[in-house]
Amino acid sequence: MFPKYLILLLGLCFFVHYGHAATDTVICYYANWAIYRPDKGFFHAEDIDASICTHINYAFLGVFPNGSLQIIDEWGDIEKGNIAGVEALKDINPYLKTIFSIGGWNAGNAILSPIAASAELRANLIASCFEFFDQYGFNGLDIDWEYPEAKDKENFVTLLKELKTAFQPGGYILTIAVSAIPIDDAYDIPGMSQNVDVIHLMTYDFHIPGGGIAAENSPLYWGDSDSAWQKEYENVNSTVINWLNEGADPAKLTIGLAFYGHTFQLADPNEHDLGAPVVGAGMSGPYTKGYGIMGYNEVCELTSDWERKFDDQQKVPYKYKGDQWIGYDDDESVALKVQFAKDHNLAGVMVWTVDMDDFLGYCGTKNQLLNAIKDNL
Ligand SMILES: *[C@@H]1O[C@H](CO)[C@@H](O)[C@H](O)[C@H]1NC(C)=O
Ligand SMILES: *[C@@H]1O[C@H](CO)[C@@H](O)[C@H](O)[C@H]1NC(C)=O
Repeated sequence: MFPKYLILLLGLCFFVHYGHAATDTVICYYANWAIYRPDKGFFHAEDIDASICTHINYAFLGVFPNGSLQIIDEWGDIEKGNIAGVEALKDINPYLKTIFSIGGWNAGNAILSPIAASAELRANLIASCFEFFDQYGFNGLDIDWEYPEAKDKENFVTLLKELKTAFQPGGYILTIAVSAIPIDDAYDIPGMSQNVDVIHLMTYDFHIPGGGIAAENSPLYWGDSDSAWQKEYENVNSTVINWLNEGADPAKLTIGLAFYGHTFQLADPNEHDLGAPVVGAGMSGPYTKGYGIMGYNEVCELTSDWERKFDDQQKVPYKYKGDQWIGYDDDESVALKVQFAKDHNLAGVMVWTVDMDDFLGYCGTKNQLLNAIKDNL
């Protein structure tokens, strides 16, 4: 009896270890500023549905010039319990991993570049991470460096390698968010891939109102190859194929799912197809208040009487009414993107951000987009 079980057990270990890599990672970014949104936009850490997210990336912590991590918003992060609220979600999902995210668009290049370039500052950052993990119970660090330049290429990998080496013994996690379009002179993709646990491809913001054309935020595929306004690489599929071709490990890649859309003001309300001329940004969501941006929660609450179309080439929906137009993602396009991640044996998906899901359920099921991920993973 015993040897038979042993052989079975060994076989099982072998299978688990060498079997097909599972596409099972759901990285949920949480925008800590969501507690400042008015009325029905208000969203606290404790409102996150932690049963679907495998990781929560808390955006953002700052970094002092000396490399130490910085609580930027003492009131929200600490007094209002946003950080503690994220950590407390482990009571609901004991497998949940919590990660501090640094960088982001507003931080730009200026703060991380000198830190990556200095052995002393890198060491300070690493020491500070451990202090923060101890203090808040978090499990890792996420770096959204937007964006490194040619001078940072080697330093970035050095920073990642040192972080990874320091994190590995304790099982801490290191992830990065990167530009969808590989920045050839600033990204050493094999070097980055080797030294992180997960790379989040920011596969959105492909088209914004400045382009003069009503176009999608995050097409899954290249649509009409004849159209001048739409470039071959401006979609999820081409991004993934590019990153794989340049040496990224598929088992470490997530594709970014945008829980928001870009709005446009049509030049002529009668011309509302994809590619229609626009005069600029459309309405802003009343809660998220970003220029020409609406969260999916706002789309669900405020556009129920807009016309919805689904583009069969790009595999994403758009909506319009009068001179208003939005390209966005819904449960249908999210399901297709999750399937794409599975078809390419990627690690999974990343969400920007959970606080813009339809968490009040105007489109039906609460957290419709998170549930679309769950139902298709
Ligand atoms: C880095 O600077 C911050 C802000 O001045 C300070 O609070 C922190 O103690 C410094 N860290 C180190 C390691 O010197
Ligand atoms: C996906 O992208 C690659 C690289 O751009 C391209 O060669 C391929 O045809 C695309 N697949 C589809 C189905 O569009």
